[in-house]
Amino acid sequence: MTPEQITALFAEHGDLCYEGEGITQLQHAWQCGRLARQARATPELELAAWLHDLGHLMTGLQGSPAQRGIDDAHETLAAQALSGLFGAAVAEPVALHVRAKRYLVAAQPRYAQALSADSVRSLALQGGPMSPAECEAFLALPHAQDALRLRIWDDHAKDRGQRPASQNRVLVEMSAAMRAVIDGQRV
Ligand SMILES: [Fe+2]
Ligand SMILES: [Fe+2]
Repeated sequence: MTPEQITALFAEHGDLCYEGEGITQLQHAWQCGRLARQARATPELELAAWLHDLGHLMTGLQGSPAQRGIDDAHETLAAQALSGLFGAAVAEPVALHVRAKRYLVAAQPRYAQALSADSVRSLALQGGPMSPAECEAFLALPHAQDALRLRIWDDHAKDRGQRPASQNRVLVEMSAAMRAVIDGQRV
């Protein structure tokens, strides 16, 4: 995939519902990217926030796959598409954002209570809370901390009241986030 193809995918399928949460995939990506920027994330982590659910658009499944008992493995699909283009600092937090949820549910009881209905549904399909040994192995991964930050933004990027000015504006911002990482690779 090229950056232009990613933007085109969001232009074409960004209006897919985000996991039954009442917002679209494009709105979710935009909110998540903004939260990363507000938290002064690196350009790579900000881009991971923007594109963490790209896999949902690649499968093109409408609504909530989890509601129909499907784990679409969207984190793996997206990470495969992103690694060659943007490197591990973008692809790995994306690859780990589902495991980060499984970790947080196990490690922080209050986190589990605040999860949205669809996140709870997909959690079961994704393997449920991690065991203590799985938690330890997860934390030892090089990009685990970035994946945990991304996961928290992901959980907060479901605000129905927060809408972008226009789809075009969001796509321009998304392209700029991709460009920032590509330009950074050249220096
Ligand atoms: Fe996701
Ligand atoms: Fe998400």
